[in-house]
Amino acid sequence: MRMVDIIEKKRDGGVLTDEEIRFFIRGYVDGSIPDYQASAFAMAVLFRGMNPLETATLTDAMMHSGETIDLSDIPGVKVDKHSTGGVGDKTSLVLGPLVAACGAKLAKMSGRGLGHTGGTLDKMESVPGMRIALSEEEFKEQVRRIGIAIAGQTAELVPADKKLYALRDVTGTVESIPLIASSIMSKKLASGSDAILLDVKFGGGAFMKDIEHATLLAQTMVEIGKNLGRDTRAILTDMDQPLGLAVGNAVEVIEAVTTLQGNGPKDLEELCVKAGGILLTQAGIAASEKEGERRIEDAIRSGKGFEKLCEFFAAQGGDIRYLKDTSLFPRAQYVHEIRAKEEGFVSRIDCLAVGLSAMRLGAGRATLEDKIDMSAGIILKKKVGDSVKEGDVLCLALTNKEGVEDVFETLTDSFVLSKEKIERKPIVHRYIGRAL
Ligand code: URA
Repeated sequence: MRMVDIIEKKRDGGVLTDEEIRFFIRGYVDGSIPDYQASAFAMAVLFRGMNPLETATLTDAMMHSGETIDLSDIPGVKVDKHSTGGVGDKTSLVLGPLVAACGAKLAKMSGRGLGHTGGTLDKMESVPGMRIALSEEEFKEQVRRIGIAIAGQTAELVPADKKLYALRDVTGTVESIPLIASSIMSKKLASGSDAILLDVKFGGGAFMKDIEHATLLAQTMVEIGKNLGRDTRAILTDMDQPLGLAVGNAVEVIEAVTTLQGNGPKDLEELCVKAGGILLTQAGIAASEKEGERRIEDAIRSGKGFEKLCEFFAAQGGDIRYLKDTSLFPRAQYVHEIRAKEEGFVSRIDCLAVGLSAMRLGAGRATLEDKIDMSAGIILKKKVGDSVKEGDVLCLALTNKEGVEDVFETLTDSFVLSKEKIERKPIVHRYIGRAL
């Protein structure tokens, strides 16, 4: 078999066989297929697409390119949730403890932030002592004992994706539904959970710019999961504004705490209640999504979700005095008020601009080697639908840097104002693979 024939077949719109797809993944991981052929292949897939069987085969081949985690010796249904990447998205830190407090077992491998999107692992590390590198045994023991563990992916998990994603990033081949779907699902499937809930974002700050493409991506991933024997469902949520009010690291952990204490922003709470309702039905704990939602609401009101957050951070070495008294988190030296230049109603907040601004203030990385300033970030004071008068504070920029005035300009412009009143929409726009 020759790689060039496989590339030409896909270039000409052919359907690849199981053998051809596995030949590519095997050869790319062992180094016998060079980057230039892999990038030509990725570009051919980007233009020609893949049918559901090809996409499932690609996912399966990638998933088995390295180690997989076997959670079957942990009793009960193990659940996982994944977001395709957002700004201000601290959902895992709220939802994880809530479902675990309700008796589910959440075993999640997470990632670091890059560019305009933040990463759960970085946020967790804003609490001193917090360890995200757990051995497989530690990870499993923690899930078994307290019902939740969130850890970094080991280097051995899906090496095919590590190589291919880095290549796609620099060859203009990220935006392909079969490639995104197989990349995400191979990692989720290799992490071993029985049930997966995907939060597929769409809008300015997301990979998928509109709901139709996001639906297609969600359907593709749900199909892959089902083909490979996992209960996979998806929700579609918009990224036409950051989630909640905080964007950064420590500020997002603080917001997760306030949400678990019942005082969080409404959109974040609504998302966690809806997603939690689905996860609890997937776990077989709730008979319906409505019942699941009620249980999640109870876990917020009773404080059980917050207790579980503390238990989870303590288990991974985190100093939970910071969660119990969030004033202990270091504060940024400068707090700049970003004010409206005119009046109107907020119709959109440009997530890409807010995410990149947070990065420039010190809260994110432009390259994987950059160091993060845990105290930097942005606090929104206005959200979509709010009315604004000239001079009102739109957001606060928290930083230890000087000479970032251009970021303040960007932040002002990222609030798009309209003359007409804007209706607030529900956070979940569509459900895929739902079993009520
Ligand atoms: N996230 C991933 O893990 N892979 C992609 O291809 C896109 C987003």
